[in-house]
Amino acid sequence: MNSLHIKNGRAIDPANNVDEVRDLFVINGKIADHAAPNAEIIDATGLVIAPGLIDIHVHLREPGQTHKETIASGTAAAAAGGFTTVVAMPNTTPPTDTVERLTWVLEQAKKTGVVHVYSTGALTTSLAGKEIAPIEAMAAAGAIALTDDGHCVQDLKLMREVVLRAKKVGLPIMDHCQEACLTAGSIMHEGEWSDRLGLTGWPSLAEEIIVARNIMLAEEMNHPIHCQHISSGTSVRLIREARSRGVPITGEASPHHITLTDEMLKEGDANFKVNPPLRTQEDIDAIIEGIADGTLTILASDHAPHALSEKKQPLDQAPFGMLGLETELAVFLTTLVHQKKILSFSKLIAMLTINPAQLLRLNAGRLTLGSTADITLIDPNLHWTYDRETSASLSRNTPYHGYQFQGRAVRTIVDGHTIWKLKE
Ligand code: DOR
Ligand code: ZN
Repeated sequence: MNSLHIKNGRAIDPANNVDEVRDLFVINGKIADHAAPNAEIIDATGLVIAPGLIDIHVHLREPGQTHKETIASGTAAAAAGGFTTVVAMPNTTPPTDTVERLTWVLEQAKKTGVVHVYSTGALTTSLAGKEIAPIEAMAAAGAIALTDDGHCVQDLKLMREVVLRAKKVGLPIMDHCQEACLTAGSIMHEGEWSDRLGLTGWPSLAEEIIVARNIMLAEEMNHPIHCQHISSGTSVRLIREARSRGVPITGEASPHHITLTDEMLKEGDANFKVNPPLRTQEDIDAIIEGIADGTLTILASDHAPHALSEKKQPLDQAPFGMLGLETELAVFLTTLVHQKKILSFSKLIAMLTINPAQLLRLNAGRLTLGSTADITLIDPNLHWTYDRETSASLSRNTPYHGYQFQGRAVRTIVDGHTIWKLKE
């Protein structure tokens, strides 16, 4: 049965300027304006009724690294975090850099995914930055954006050509901003703690210089470029200035870059090793300011599962990345809405629904009459402690084990079907 009568919740639907206590109806998997006689009744008293949350930056690891995650397990983690739509990154094994590989991911997602899965296509073959991938064919086959995430095209001539071709097929670019020479062999943020620990630093400049390049390319070509997982305060300032001039540049903030600092690597725990790296409290403050003033418009996890055996290695050998899908809403809610009070609930929901949907032109992220009934019910105040052993992910590499949060998703609805519900 996918007809629902969700009663007495606080409906927050920023795309339609709605924030009011009311009932929401679903008939045959679509948002309706009345209850079907056979509708399942859900009491949402005290809960927020939000459009299904969207995460445009996740690593599902399938094909090729299914000991870390599969589309089935990654989308189960998404559901448990309140997400009804995720966008897969192309750095799988092999990478999503041809129509055949893209089609395989999309087909596999249809078979095994429990939430909607879209896929990006690579900018360059093997994410190697040498040869442009078949962008036009991947666009026609359903890629919704282009990125070499995990890698960054260095060759300016090639990147300019990529932007031109992406513009011709109307696909936004999402870029992992990292200058390669400045970050060769880097383990963590370059600063006091990399000095103390004797580890090779990843200077903020290596991100900022690529953000500046992307701003100039976006401006020259008048084509949207989205800067993924912004980690540095100066990057925020560059994006703010460019957006004030109308440049089609956007930026994304990840949970770890607003809550964790480079100092947290001092015990050698590789669960804190991520790319771009955790930086300083000043960077955190600047990113939060950028979220507050609308410079950064999208929140995303960079959910990056890795095997325990890999993450147990010393810092210089462990891979970069951390889980995110199950904790991200709680991190953002606890930090930005409850503690810092810099975002209204409605703005938070916009940054997790309509804003990413607009960037990637997804038909999602709103509770408009007749639209697909993807809905997340959120208890905004529930106090809970994250236990990584309960994770639906196949991996356990989270820095948030044992963290106490305020607020979380309690029910996730896709196409009118409850696909996940918090155990009482
Ligand atoms: O920390 C990261 N992990 N950053 C990336 O850009 C890639 C990701 C991964 O795939 O593990
Ligand atoms: Zn990345």
